[in-house]
Amino acid sequence: MRAILTAALCLSAFAAISNAGAAQARRAAFGALADGTRIDAVDLTSRTGVRARIITLGARIQSLYTPDRAGKLGDIVLGFASPQRYFDDGNYFGATVGRFANRIAKGRFTLDGRTYQVTVNDHGNSLHGGSPGFDKRVWTIESLHDGASASVVMSYVSPDGEQGYPGALRVTATYTLTDSGELRIDYSATTDRPTIVNLSGHSYFNLASSPAHFSTMRDLLQINASHFTPVDDTLIPTGTIAPVAGTPFDFRTPTPIGLRIRDGNDRQIRYCHGYDMNFVLDGRPGTLRLAARVEDPRSGRVLEVYTTAPGIQFYSGNFLGGSFVGKHGIVYRQGDAVVLEPQDFPDAPNHPNFPAATLDPGATYHSVIVYRFSVRR
Ligand code: GLA
Repeated sequence: MRAILTAALCLSAFAAISNAGAAQARRAAFGALADGTRIDAVDLTSRTGVRARIITLGARIQSLYTPDRAGKLGDIVLGFASPQRYFDDGNYFGATVGRFANRIAKGRFTLDGRTYQVTVNDHGNSLHGGSPGFDKRVWTIESLHDGASASVVMSYVSPDGEQGYPGALRVTATYTLTDSGELRIDYSATTDRPTIVNLSGHSYFNLASSPAHFSTMRDLLQINASHFTPVDDTLIPTGTIAPVAGTPFDFRTPTPIGLRIRDGNDRQIRYCHGYDMNFVLDGRPGTLRLAARVEDPRSGRVLEVYTTAPGIQFYSGNFLGGSFVGKHGIVYRQGDAVVLEPQDFPDAPNHPNFPAATLDPGATYHSVIVYRFSVRR
């Protein structure tokens, strides 16, 4: 915590670069899928220059522009320029992932004495809600708001039994861009039968935003977690909650991502092909607290991630294989992104010692992610 406070002294948030108007949310066409399905976009703009495009395919962040220390705007998320590319891709770029983010062992869980089987799509396990998950669904734009902040509410209704999950789940994802240059996501869900739910945002951040310096291995990462949930070789938690101390998963002070990513003595690093791990966040779940901080020393960009969720998955883009071209003509290679996914713990329904990820009729699931942008001078 002390390190964070010290760093904050050298940081600056962005001043308004224009006096014109307030933050705005504007609807735009993004394109169509090959079958003709129309995909819309909402552009959120703020007076700081920070702007985000959210698209209805997967309620996802398609672009996010923030200034570097010289004030130059750059797009700091990976993705594509057309809807069909997102539809054909399996990386969940920028998406809202659900109904259950991360993995469920063998796609099986028991709730109120009844066993459910959901679709499996990842080495015999279910990943990010099965296929197709919420990331491939077309969400509805419910409303747009302008003012001191700009926001869009998108919704999706997942029918009872979709991918094997019990209960009709009504989900909203609200994206809010404030005039101080902060992007907030509020996920809400209600159900008509007891079910499980775990929603997360799956943006791939690259704070350099320059093809010449795209690797994130020199980025300084801090994760406010004293413990993590070790996994087996299919990335299913063993159920142990282990201290990070003395492991390559100790990011309690800012550490270059690449420093320990090739530690062949660490079995967890080998299983994950780098980092692909759930961290148990310090502090009380349900309260908005600083979970992680990333700094790109070259551009000066700093990202802070706040959340109410109990855990955060840090995935270092291990499965980006250099085999396709993304936005801005850039080929994505292993380690080109920092993915920080606030969430309930993976496979929570099968581990009584993990925080429960259940939702009952009459209750409302609510989870918050805040991305705060600044620069280090
Ligand atoms: C999550 C998972 C990873 C990988 C990515 C998408 O971060 O934990 O293993 O599946 O999504 O490629």
